[in-house]
Amino acid sequence: MNLRDRFAAHVAVALARTFGVEADPSEVSAQMSRPPKPELGDVAYPCFAWAKALRQSPAAIASRLASALVTDMASDDAFAQVEAAGPYVNVRFARAWYVRRVLEAASAPGYGGSMEGSGRVIGIDSSAPNIAKPFGIGHLRSTVIGHSLRRIHEALGYRVVSVNHLGDWGTQFGKLMHAFELWGDEAEMEAAPIRHLYDLYVRFHAAAKEDPSMDEAGRAWFRRLEQGDPHAQAYWERFRTLSLREFQRMYDRLGVSFDHDWGEAFYNDKLDAVIGDLRSAGLLQESEGAQVVPLEDLQLPPCLILKQDGASLYATRDLAAARWRREALGAERFLYVVGAAQAVHFQQVFAVLERMGYPWAKELVHVPFGMILGISTRKGTLVFLEDVLDRGKALALEVLETREGLSAEERDTIAEQVAVGAIVFYDLMRDRLRDYEFNWELMLDWHGRTGPYLQYTHVRLASVERTFEGRFGALPTQESVDPALLQEDAVYALVGTLARFPEVVAEAARQLQPVEIARYLLDLAEAFNTLYSSGVRLVGEDEAMSRARIYVVGCVRQVLARGLTLLGVPLPERM
Ligand code: ARG
Repeated sequence: MNLRDRFAAHVAVALARTFGVEADPSEVSAQMSRPPKPELGDVAYPCFAWAKALRQSPAAIASRLASALVTDMASDDAFAQVEAAGPYVNVRFARAWYVRRVLEAASAPGYGGSMEGSGRVIGIDSSAPNIAKPFGIGHLRSTVIGHSLRRIHEALGYRVVSVNHLGDWGTQFGKLMHAFELWGDEAEMEAAPIRHLYDLYVRFHAAAKEDPSMDEAGRAWFRRLEQGDPHAQAYWERFRTLSLREFQRMYDRLGVSFDHDWGEAFYNDKLDAVIGDLRSAGLLQESEGAQVVPLEDLQLPPCLILKQDGASLYATRDLAAARWRREALGAERFLYVVGAAQAVHFQQVFAVLERMGYPWAKELVHVPFGMILGISTRKGTLVFLEDVLDRGKALALEVLETREGLSAEERDTIAEQVAVGAIVFYDLMRDRLRDYEFNWELMLDWHGRTGPYLQYTHVRLASVERTFEGRFGALPTQESVDPALLQEDAVYALVGTLARFPEVVAEAARQLQPVEIARYLLDLAEAFNTLYSSGVRLVGEDEAMSRARIYVVGCVRQVLARGLTLLGVPLPERM
């Protein structure tokens, strides 16, 4: 089906026969480009690279190569024409042949996916909010990118195991306990635990500024927790359970789930073993009373393992986590979807694991991302993701107010899907390393390059299909479609865009960049909308023609739906 590769194979043979040079077909394929104008052909092979070795001009090489290819490719049905154009050899696909193959592939379930990862396991560490602090906008990116990477890898046949490395341990819990003893409110705690805990957290810090004994009391509570005091443990349990329940509400709204909620506390009983192994491997050194692994030779700051008071650190837990996951999950690769600010932390952790002699440490990958800007950062004010989603939903509802024939309930469902789709797509539509400005107006613009635009295009495709059904009955099967009717430029271009989907998904996985898919979907929607507004009647008088065109429409709708699902953008049925 990939005609570029097929053409490349012909080129490699012809190069060998004509010039006696050896070329790797996959390299040849990678060098191919698209002719500047579609009427010149579908793919172009540039001959510049050979000029030096063959002591001929690129145009002379192209011309000889093209005549050889004309003979070689005469019996290959997939191609209609091959010719030299200056330094290029351009090839034109046999349109009907090509259209038939693409539609066949595109309408198969699982189109875009592959078996590349079958039998292989990949782990993803994402989201990882800190308990007893609200699910802020900062953890949105990790959640959304991690989820999309999961879907993408699953489409490629990998088994994906996702882990939510919750921040559920540390001295802040002692502080919260003390604050709760002083000011806790059971009713508020039940109603909105994260907000209540956050208020306590802010109140504690304000009070601790005036009164240093507050910190001491917080530390005392944390010590009780560490020593297994039942009262402290009950608090911890409760803070954790209630916070998780609230996070779950966000995850449900985003359609995200995790295989394991192994947070930092999960590794409490696994830290001694790590520290012991570090010590016996001679990797630990004392530095100002603390235990560290020096990493000067890598130009990294030392990795802190134990504080002066013997307390473990973030890195200590990550070391234990990596080891545990490796044993429990057997993932060959582990992706850590965490903000770029933690790059040094992961370099340190991975380097220490490598020094401990774990060959799999090379397969641990930090997948960093930039920040969301322009959303309130007033001191002591965290932005609650829930409020953000609610605001988006309210804005979407305003637009839907004007739509007729929707019940209040439908409106509510759609508004939620639009808000989620808008946020998710806006996040994934750029290189993940770029920071971006949070802006509801841009995110929700139904005519811009946005999630709602793609959702709306999807709804529109379905409605064109319904128009067909109204006129001609059931939607066509592939056998009843004549691909020869699908050769005009705008339709053919759309089919060509459909054909790219599998490469795009594979590339998104290779680069760990969902943006590849986001951009592709915008191209696909654009190609469809161009056709839609070009005056070509998709459903007209001619039944055979309408059948053929509606078949393409169906394929576009499926690919759009599949691509949006890979990103985690929900699909409203109406809009
Ligand atoms: N809870 C951490 C934070 O909010 C992120 C944890 C990321 N995962 C990890 N294995 N360190 O910064």
